[in-house]
Amino acid sequence: MSKAEVDRVRQLFDLSGRVAIITGGAGLLGYQHGEVLAAAGAHVVLLDLAISDPAKSAVRLTANHQVECMGLTADITDEASIVDASRCILAKFGRIDILINNAANNPKVEDAKELAWSRLENLPVSVWDADIRVGLTGAFLCSRVFGTYMAKNGKGVIINVASDLALISPDQRLYRVDGLPEDQQPVKPVTYPVVKSGLLGLTRYLATYWTGSNVRVNAISPGGVWNAQPDVFLNRLKHLVPMARMANQSEYQGAILFLCSDASSYMTGANLVIDGGRTCW
Ligand SMILES: NC(=O)c1ccc[n+]([C@@H]2O[C@H](COP(=O)([O-])OP(=O)(O)OC[C@H]3O[C@@H](n4cnc5c(N)ncnc54)[C@H](O)[C@@H]3O)[C@@H](O)[C@H]2O)c1
Repeated sequence: MSKAEVDRVRQLFDLSGRVAIITGGAGLLGYQHGEVLAAAGAHVVLLDLAISDPAKSAVRLTANHQVECMGLTADITDEASIVDASRCILAKFGRIDILINNAANNPKVEDAKELAWSRLENLPVSVWDADIRVGLTGAFLCSRVFGTYMAKNGKGVIINVASDLALISPDQRLYRVDGLPEDQQPVKPVTYPVVKSGLLGLTRYLATYWTGSNVRVNAISPGGVWNAQPDVFLNRLKHLVPMARMANQSEYQGAILFLCSDASSYMTGANLVIDGGRTCW
């Protein structure tokens, strides 16, 4: 390979100077997405609730990559809060290039008891409303505010973080607790696959809506990530995944960089499934 060819490959993945917003950016995976984008040169904006302290995570990113990053407190269920965030970002960096709709309510039903509320028959409508509000309404509002800015600017990228559970139903046997009566067994709440399936619809809608404005919109569907889940859960899940393990926390970074960068310049409206093969079975 000539030096020019090597440079061209590097440029494909280079995000120097671009501004990337990650909702839920101080969470487990949001921060990991931030690491790879900052490593590729982007100014990363971690947008999250105050309780998750996005400013603290942004300090870490800046220190790790010597590129200025920002932590912003915002609630994506509130359009005014997103508009405020947009003003802050534009005042500091003067541009917005990338949005990752990553925030979601994701209750850890695999390591808790007393979750009878999670069952379809018991799920409070308030939980249904709150989950839809964060996972779907939040993604819609962020796309409207930040995506419209990118569309007017004639270039941009949006990634919606879905899940393998956008494609398959939760296997509720994974979450069973020995000794509990059937009507108290925890389940993955119905809202989770509903939100994630909805995000795939949002992805296709926005992708076709903004093709003329050069805003590419794609989804990723990650499988479960290892985060010290109990052994009983891990052993059950192993049998459902051809690769026989959960993902490591950094294993979605390649896909995130690919979809955010010019390496995926001919890709829009697609869903990248990264699930150790789970949805093949
Ligand atoms: N962890 C997994 O195994 C896994 C697997 C597949 C998909 N996903 C998806 O990846 C994404 C990130 O998951 P995670 O495991 O990092 O979750 P997480 O709970 O660690 O992070 C979610 C973040 O979203 C933030 N958030 C919640 N409501 C918000 C609001 N109204 N406004 C702004 N921020 C808000 C939270 O404060 C939190 O920091 C989610 O969409 C999740 O569904 C996760």
